[in-house]
Amino acid sequence: MKTVEQIKQPILEEMECFETKFKDAMISNVPLLNRITHFIVRRKGKQMRPMFVFLVAKMVSNGNFDERTYRGASIIELIHTATLVHDDVVDDSNKRRGFFSINALWKNKIAVLVGDYLLSKGLLLSIDNDDFDILKLISVAVREMSEGELLQIEKARKLDITEAIYFEIIRQKTATLIAACCGIGAASVGSSSEEIEKMRLFGETIGIAFQIKDDLFDYTNAKIGKPTGIDIKEQKMTLPLIYVLNNCTLNEKKWLINSVKNHNKNKKRVKEVIAFVKQKGGIEYTVTKMHEYKNKALQILNEYPNSVYKDSLLQMIEYVVDRKI
Ligand code: IPE
Ligand code: IPE
Ligand code: MG
Ligand code: MG
Repeated sequence: MKTVEQIKQPILEEMECFETKFKDAMISNVPLLNRITHFIVRRKGKQMRPMFVFLVAKMVSNGNFDERTYRGASIIELIHTATLVHDDVVDDSNKRRGFFSINALWKNKIAVLVGDYLLSKGLLLSIDNDDFDILKLISVAVREMSEGELLQIEKARKLDITEAIYFEIIRQKTATLIAACCGIGAASVGSSSEEIEKMRLFGETIGIAFQIKDDLFDYTNAKIGKPTGIDIKEQKMTLPLIYVLNNCTLNEKKWLINSVKNHNKNKKRVKEVIAFVKQKGGIEYTVTKMHEYKNKALQILNEYPNSVYKDSLLQMIEYVVDRKI
């Protein structure tokens, strides 16, 4: 597996330029906001989404590039950051990117408002430049992300999630934004609507694999810069558990549901559930599903002629499923 730094090679200059533009896109007249956005910029994440925007734009246009591509990348990363800030409030999580989350440092009130601010800055960046095609792609993603997070909460309350609903949740809460990255990458360089749709589908497919990987991390003790083992505590039932629920005895199922429903804050009980899921093959099944999505994404890319950009996208796909953070 290649590192992110290696994958970035063909778009190194663009990624450097992007950093400045992204930082400038957050500036405000309110000193408190500037302190917080300064903090956010210093603790940047893997930046996989802007990489998808740039690599897709270049792959479909033989290396072409446009100011619109930069704006597309900034909008996506602004919205991504906004959703993470809100997500940590929703999940009551105190760690992000190896440090305290915004809600942990400044409390929920401020985190909610900072998330709204970043979201509005993202949308305005499109509107102010008349990038209405990009605005449409991003707005669909914003709507679906909210729907996905709410569907997830509804299912966590009723504890009646099925595998099909799990896939719908992760498609909406995570894959839709990666789909928008790839759609926007193509749209930013003037691709046809068929090509934009094909790239959107590519992003959605790899986005699903990406969230499955994230959910697998929760079953490990890996140091990934954010808490692990919190999904069951939050009554979030993800694919490993869903699979085991469908493949165990009625008594085991009752014990599992009762654990998630009534003992979700009991650390010992949660550990027992995790151990049971592992013993019953929940992880293996989930890894197999993740690879199915990975292979679907590879198939879409293989329709394209070889280029350094396509190579990097192929490496991105490997990275999504093999990454350590
Ligand atoms: C985290 O996304 C949120 C999910 C959809 C799982 P990333 O893992 O890409 O977050 P950063 O930007 O690298 O921190
Ligand atoms: C994905 O949900 C995050 C968003 C869609 C914003 P999670 O709650 O699983 O993500 P992490 O694990 O906190 O990054
Ligand atoms: Mg979360
Ligand atoms: Mg998670």
